[in-house]
Amino acid sequence: MTLVGVLGCGLMGSGIAEVCARNGRDVVVVEADPAAVERGRAKVLRSMESAVARGKLPSDDMDRAVERLVFTDDWDSFGDRQLVIEAISEDPDIKVAAFQQLDKVVGTSDAILASNTSSIPIMKLATATERPTQVIGLHFFNPVPVLPLVELVPSLMTSPDTSERAASFATEVLGKNVIRSKDRAGFVVNALLIPYLLSAIRMLESGFATAADIDAGMVHGCAHPMGPLALTDLIGLDTTMAVAESMYSEFKEPLYAPPPLLSRMVEAGLLGRKSGRGFHEYRKDV
Ligand SMILES: NC(=O)c1ccc[n+]([C@@H]2O[C@H](COP(=O)([O-])OP(=O)(O)OC[C@H]3O[C@@H](n4cnc5c(N)ncnc54)[C@H](O)[C@@H]3O)[C@@H](O)[C@H]2O)c1
Repeated sequence: MTLVGVLGCGLMGSGIAEVCARNGRDVVVVEADPAAVERGRAKVLRSMESAVARGKLPSDDMDRAVERLVFTDDWDSFGDRQLVIEAISEDPDIKVAAFQQLDKVVGTSDAILASNTSSIPIMKLATATERPTQVIGLHFFNPVPVLPLVELVPSLMTSPDTSERAASFATEVLGKNVIRSKDRAGFVVNALLIPYLLSAIRMLESGFATAADIDAGMVHGCAHPMGPLALTDLIGLDTTMAVAESMYSEFKEPLYAPPPLLSRMVEAGLLGRKSGRGFHEYRKDV
């Protein structure tokens, strides 16, 4: 698959677009409106410039990747795509509407429509289309250019051919490591990670320890590269809450219920790194 589309160019979509372009694919990125298109373009360029500055990407390769990227708010640009990866906000209604629209505009008959959702059932997105056998979950990890994992999530209706083509795109084209998960909210990684992050938030909320000490505990005591509250800031508190809500609604397991502190912080717009403040403070949009 050489013609790729990416829907949504936030934290994840920008990384997915970048790795696809860096690996020789022609990529159309669609965002919600012209301002979001420009923000998305700037994010991808900033990330590649930083990779060049760190010696991780030759500048000629960056120039070639930039030439392969088109940013637009016109969904019809997806018409000829062979693979479209959706990475818009973690909201089931918004995603279902997006899959209905993708089904209309993507003209390639065997195109794969993939979702980067962290927790919404792939079946829900598949049945929003007339081609459920071609819908699959391709769940990347943040930052996409750095983390090698992709979870492959076929629904009960995904065809073996779609699974094989999507897996070989992730491994052979993007050089990622693929693990397979059943279509259950949270898949493998978030089913393990989210209860841990929520436990750290509950620990902070109860006054058990400070944010700095909770994070330092896991960094220095367990050799984690960052503590759970810093990781929640990196993921985004809104995304963490949305994933927890999907998992809670699927399993009714109290460990998955978002703690009140998380809800209040999301209501206040304290979303973590992307808003400049979460459990810790950041320079805005770093
Ligand atoms: N943040 C993470 O660490 C992480 C990791 C893996 C997967 N995910 C998943 O990736 C998806 C995106 O998450 P994110 O963190 O990048 O969110 P984000 O808020 O950074 O970006 C979402 C983007 O989608 C755009 N968007 C929203 N509705 C749109 C529409 N109708 N058409 C076009 N663009 C639209 C927004 O303008 C925004 O730029 C979610 O499903 C999330 O669960 C997130």
